[in-house]
Amino acid sequence: MKGIAALLPLTALAIHINPSQGCSTDDDCSLNGICSQVTQTCTCDAGWRAGDCSELDLYPATRWSGYNHTNATGPDFYKEGAGNSSWGGHIVQDPSDKTLFHLITSQMSHGCGLAGWRPFSTIIRAESKTGPRGPYTYAQTLFETFHHNPTTIYSPADGKYLLYCIGRDIETPDTCKSQKFNNTISVSSSVDLRQWEALEAQLENVTNPAPWPLWSKQNQTHEMLLAVEKNNIYTATNFSGPYDLVVEPHNTDRSEDPFLWQDKRGNWHFLVHYLIDIDLGLKGPRVGAHAYARHWQGPWTFNNKTLAYNTTVEFTDGTSTVYYRRERPKLYFSDDGDMTPLYLINGVQEFNQSGSYTLIQPIGAGAKEYEKKLGFGEER
Ligand SMILES: *[C@@H]1O[C@H](CO)[C@@H](O)[C@H](O)[C@H]1NC(C)=O
Ligand SMILES: *[C@@H]1O[C@H](CO)[C@@H](O)[C@H](O)[C@H]1NC(C)=O
Ligand SMILES: *[C@@H]1O[C@H](CO)[C@@H](O)[C@H](O)[C@H]1NC(C)=O
Ligand SMILES: *[C@@H]1O[C@H](CO)[C@@H](O)[C@H](O)[C@H]1NC(C)=O
Ligand SMILES: *[C@@H]1O[C@H](CO)[C@@H](O)[C@H](O)[C@H]1NC(C)=O
Ligand SMILES: *[C@@H]1O[C@H](CO)[C@@H](O)[C@H](O)[C@H]1NC(C)=O
Ligand SMILES: *[C@@H]1O[C@H](CO)[C@@H](O)[C@H](O)[C@H]1NC(C)=O
Ligand SMILES: *[C@@H]1O[C@H](CO)[C@@H](O)[C@H](O)[C@H]1NC(C)=O
Ligand SMILES: *[C@@H]1O[C@H](CO)[C@@H](O)[C@H](O)[C@H]1NC(C)=O
Ligand SMILES: *[C@@H]1O[C@H](CO)[C@@H](O)[C@H](O)[C@H]1NC(C)=O
Repeated sequence: MKGIAALLPLTALAIHINPSQGCSTDDDCSLNGICSQVTQTCTCDAGWRAGDCSELDLYPATRWSGYNHTNATGPDFYKEGAGNSSWGGHIVQDPSDKTLFHLITSQMSHGCGLAGWRPFSTIIRAESKTGPRGPYTYAQTLFETFHHNPTTIYSPADGKYLLYCIGRDIETPDTCKSQKFNNTISVSSSVDLRQWEALEAQLENVTNPAPWPLWSKQNQTHEMLLAVEKNNIYTATNFSGPYDLVVEPHNTDRSEDPFLWQDKRGNWHFLVHYLIDIDLGLKGPRVGAHAYARHWQGPWTFNNKTLAYNTTVEFTDGTSTVYYRRERPKLYFSDDGDMTPLYLINGVQEFNQSGSYTLIQPIGAGAKEYEKKLGFGEER
């Protein structure tokens, strides 16, 4: 066989390769690994698994980690049952204390729960002194009602943290009733994660902000990418805007909540909340999809065949939970230059519960190693 293959032109050889049996380029490894030309198999980067490296290498999560205060009560609650419901966000390591972690998440005020996200969502900062996976406790409200969908990222060019979100200031109503608002994406900045500049509106009627600075050591540009719903990508010469729509991939429909990042090889990725089961009137289980491109301008390949993750979560106590909803994916990466994904963060809701919370699930062996290096206990 080998001898015959060697005589065939390259194009013919490519036709004979069944993609489900072997890879021919790194694209067949979801750009999450390297395709060996000898064995035609993928060697996946840390944090990814499966023959085509399309699946996150999720490890069991710890119960009562993350930010789960769905059992909270408060004097200002309009109703009981949903507690301090939250809905995904970013883990950020404190700039001056490496053992302090922040979670910037949306939290519904007055006990109104996820169903009352509009207009009861606020943006809060929670803290963990027990490592990146938490548990986190409430520390500070950064933006009052109505503000939602925060994404927080460090901009090396600015030496500041940037927080993108949707919403606008409103007076909080006195019952848990949902209301409609235009989606407006705004941005704020902070040096210390505690004091934030006033939000500046950037894009009207657009939601799901996912920023990524184009800064690199070689090119210390202020240019920002801002991905949004439908995986469209805007650019701006700096975070203050104006933002111009540059990329409309079109082939990434039935998804929302994009999370955009660039990996160690310079390739580009989206994790998205996949909406394919909506066609069946369901919220899951096929909720986590991945798209990838060699250049952020595209072409983008949207993997609609296999999943990056689903609604089933295994826990360290040997139990597992199948969630009703699991959305708003975000990753926390290693800081060693390898961009290894260490934690997956989602907004989750269990079946028949009004409360929602923020789940943090470790990825690969790297999460524990990272925690150990920071001095967090073996028993975790
Ligand atoms: C979250 O909190 C609820 C109680 O409000 C509890 O039933 C559930 O098991 C908790 N989930 C996790 C993963 O900690
Ligand atoms: C919520 O659950 C946590 C974890 O089990 C517990 O420590 C806390 O006391 C509970 N709070 C309320 C108000 O029940
Ligand atoms: C719930 O959130 C409020 C802020 O809205 C905060 O004051 C309170 O401490 C939180 N409680 C818990 C248990 O997270
Ligand atoms: C939506 O935005 C438009 C234009 O800015 C404004 O005229 C309208 O009042 C807004 N609607 C709501 C419900 O906020
Ligand atoms: C945003 O949507 C509202 C209606 O929902 C419309 O009145 C307004 O003109 C839109 N604004 C822009 C900039 O498209
Ligand atoms: C640096 O990055 C900016 C923004 O992506 C780009 O326009 C510019 O050409 C780059 N400069 C060099 C020298 O590569
Ligand atoms: C950001 O870019 C805009 C448009 O190019 C420019 O007008 C503004 O001065 C820049 N702001 C900063 C802080 O560099
Ligand atoms: C998957 O993507 C391909 C190529 O874009 C498309 O032809 C096909 O209809 C999609 N399948 C589903 C189930 O969305
Ligand atoms: C979810 O993903 C896990 C891990 O790949 C798999 O074992 C499980 O069968 C999947 N569950 C569903 C409902 O697809
Ligand atoms: C949710 O509630 C419905 C109706 O009460 C019930 O049929 C269903 O089994 C429940 N689902 C779970 C996962 O508990």
